[in-house]
Amino acid sequence: MNKLAETHYPIHDLLAWRWSPRAFADRAVEPATLGALFEAARWAASAFNEQPWRFIVARREEGACYRQLLECLVEFNQGWARHAPVLILGLAKRTYTQTGEINRHGWHDLGLATAQLVVQATALGLYAHAMAGILPDRAREQYAIPDDFDVVTGLALGYLGDAATLPDDLREREGAPRQRRPLTELVFSGGWNAPADLG
Ligand SMILES: Cc1cc2nc3c(=O)[nH]c(=O)nc-3n(C[C@H](O)[C@H](O)[C@H](O)COP(=O)(O)O)c2cc1C
Repeated sequence: MNKLAETHYPIHDLLAWRWSPRAFADRAVEPATLGALFEAARWAASAFNEQPWRFIVARREEGACYRQLLECLVEFNQGWARHAPVLILGLAKRTYTQTGEINRHGWHDLGLATAQLVVQATALGLYAHAMAGILPDRAREQYAIPDDFDVVTGLALGYLGDAATLPDDLREREGAPRQRRPLTELVFSGGWNAPADLG
């Protein structure tokens, strides 16, 4: 399936080829490969180098541990994500460790670390699918997550599977072209909604 981004300016292949599938192959991800993904996340930039991100990971081979994480997803996401060999929860610390002040950029920095994880995954032939549809309260209870951490996102990860294995509605979405707003709606200069001249 070709889901290559249609770009007006050339971008790196790793960014153009990344997309979020819902069909995953029945193939495990090696622990060392998983290690490389979290290493990539670890080296992300962060405000005051707080590194506010935390991850909870479960591999399908782990059985009960995997089910525990799967049950922290909303039902719709459980439906397809239960075929992914790896599930991850992304968390962000609410305060700076040094000062105790609110870190307004914790979610930003978790996103940045996750983006690095996903780019590394793409480089290793893996695919990831982020999920807002999670059950943060359930996760908090299951993993005894301290109050100072927000449970922000889920991530399903694995090798690309066959879209034919998906139910009809999801198969249709899997094959649909990827769409984005034009740069003129996203990048301004001089005033709000004034498109930047990018040449
Ligand atoms: C923070 C975040 C939350 C998302 N939540 C869900 C979700 O709960 N369920 C789902 O099926 N897809 C989810 N997605 C996937 C997006 O719908 C997808 O990234 C978007 O349509 C763009 O498609 P692409 O990633 O293939 O380019 C989420 C993506 C992100 C980044």
